[in-house]
Parts: sequence; C-alpha cells; structure tokens
Amino acid sequence: QALYVGVDLGGTAIKIGLCNAEGELIRTFEGPTHTDQGADAVLSNIAAYVKELVPPGSDEWEAVQGVGIGIPGFLDIPNGIIDFSPNLPFRNVPVKQIMEEKLGKPIRISNDANVAALGEVWGGAGRGVEHCVCYTLGTGVGGGIIVNGRLLEGFSGMAGELGHMSVVPDLEAIQCGCGRMGCLETVSSATGIIRMAKDAVDRGDRTSLSLVTDIAAKEVFDAAKAGDEVAQRIISRAAFYLGKSMAAVAVVTNPQRFIIGGGVSKAGEFLFEQIRSVFVKLAPESASAGVDIVAAELGNNAGVVGAAGLFLRA
Ligand code: BGC
Ligand code: NA
Ligand code: ZN
Repeated sequence: QALYVGVDLGGTAIKIGLCNAEGELIRTFEGPTHTDQGADAVLSNIAAYVKELVPPGSDEWEAVQGVGIGIPGFLDIPNGIIDFSPNLPFRNVPVKQIMEEKLGKPIRISNDANVAALGEVWGGAGRGVEHCVCYTLGTGVGGGIIVNGRLLEGFSGMAGELGHMSVVPDLEAIQCGCGRMGCLETVSSATGIIRMAKDAVDRGDRTSLSLVTDIAAKEVFDAAKAGDEVAQRIISRAAFYLGKSMAAVAVVTNPQRFIIGGGVSKAGEFLFEQIRSVFVKLAPESASAGVDIVAAELGNNAGVVGAAGLFLRA
C-alpha cells in the first residue's frame, strides 16, 4: 500500500506524519527545530525525524511515495526554493533539491499555512466550504485562501501571506521580521502579544504580568480573562487588527468562513468574540452577513495532513 509523509516545519518544533492513501494519519513524530543552528542543521533534522518515523529499509519506507513539506516563509514553489522566511534563518535555500538528496524520495514544498488550510478544507473546519480563509496564529501569522474550493497561490506564490498585510497606522507601527512596518504579524502573533506584554511591564504599567518571569501568550490571555486591564488592552489590540484584516479580505475574496488555527487560537471564544465584533463593524454588512469565524479542527495535525496531501490530492 502506498504511503505518504507530511512535514510541518515550525519555529520551535518539526512535526512529521505518516499517512495512508486515504489521507489518514497512521502515526506522528515530533522533534525540536533548532533554528539557532542554521538552515543546514534544520534540514538535517527534518531528514533525521523522517527516518525516525519511518526507518529506511523497512517495508513502509519502500512504500513512501513522497514527502510533502509545509514551510513558513516566502517560497518559489515551482523551483522548490525558500526565498525568505521572516522567522527562520532561511535565505534562498533550494530545499527540494537538498531534501531529495538527503531522503532519496520525491519532495514537494508549500507554505505552512497554505497546507494547513488545505488540511482543514479536506477534513476539518472547512469541509464542504467552497470559499474560506484560514489564519494561523503562532510565532508568525500565516494565511491560506480557498476560492472556488481551490487554494489561491497568486503570481509568485505570495497570495495568502496575510500576516504581512500592513494594518497598523504609521505612528504605532513597528518593524516586522519581513522588513516592512506595521504588519498584522507584529501585533496578532504570539510573538507580538508577548512583545506588547513585555513593553507594558517595562513601561511600569500596573499588571499582574509584571510578576511573570518569562511571559508566554497564554499568560497574557489568562490575565486578560481574569480581569487584568493591561492584558485586556493587549488582547483587544491583537483582535482588533485581525478583525480589521478580515474586513479587508472579506471584500477581496468574499469568504463564507474564516478558520483560525495555531497556538493562539486555543484562547477560543474569548478571542473570537472580540475579532467578530470588529469584523462586523468594519466589513460592509453584505460581506459579513452569514460569515462565521470558527476554530480550526485539525489542531496540531492540519499541517502534516495537508503537507502529505501535496502528493495525495495533487
Ligand atoms: C510567514 C508565513 C507563514 C507564517 C506562519 C509568516 O511570518 O511569512 O509564510 O505562513 O509566518 O508560520
Ligand atoms: Na500562506
Ligand atoms: Zn511583515
């Protein structure tokens, strides 16, 4: 029986999944990315983890038809190259070629949020929805746009880079990992939320967060839910710009559903309600009526399933 491997390359962890020809996940393996060691080390880690999941020489290894990799960053998909990654040490890396040499299997690459969106449409919160847009909120903010049931890639593969919509006004804007100012990612990613929290503490704002030694996004949400006003302001700012970007997207592709995934989405309704109220305020009623904003369903597995699908569903 034919098997497929999907790789979800993240800033802190690399997840690998083995799928059968029905797209069902058989098992997964996860290990650290070690971005501090550079691009070569990261690619060697991917190869090592794939071989950990499926031992070379085994019957399963022989059955693997290809390895799909979801990668955070700006890609040249036809040539299998990472042009640039805002949050990883990748500049002009010919991943497809390097990984084919390391694994001796056909490799396909795509953007991490695009494959997560495909995973959700195939078997998650986007099942049966012809027009939907996914956001992944983690180290960065990723996006995947589905129009007429198909992924929108655009002229050079940049369609769906929603984290780099410039939404924050000049006077409040800070520089993004992509080099530009005021990107959505600077305020609505986990990194952005943590940065705003640390700034508040450094400024001496009165907040329970000043007692936390190493602030994570979850602690900012927990403080906000518990009534901490400084934390509430930070979360409502993250939610405001997400809602604002959705209002813009709504008049571009007119999706029926927004699907939100990634670690930050675990904040659930507390976050979604705030995003919704901004969205309905800023989008024309005809573009917001009947549109829902829901959580991703595949959670941590959307990326690996979608990446394996680069072969399965192609
Ligand atoms: C990158 C995207 C990626 C997202 C989530 C952004 O900084 O530009 O390509 O999808 O982070 O990982
Ligand atoms: Na994308
Ligand atoms: Zn940016």
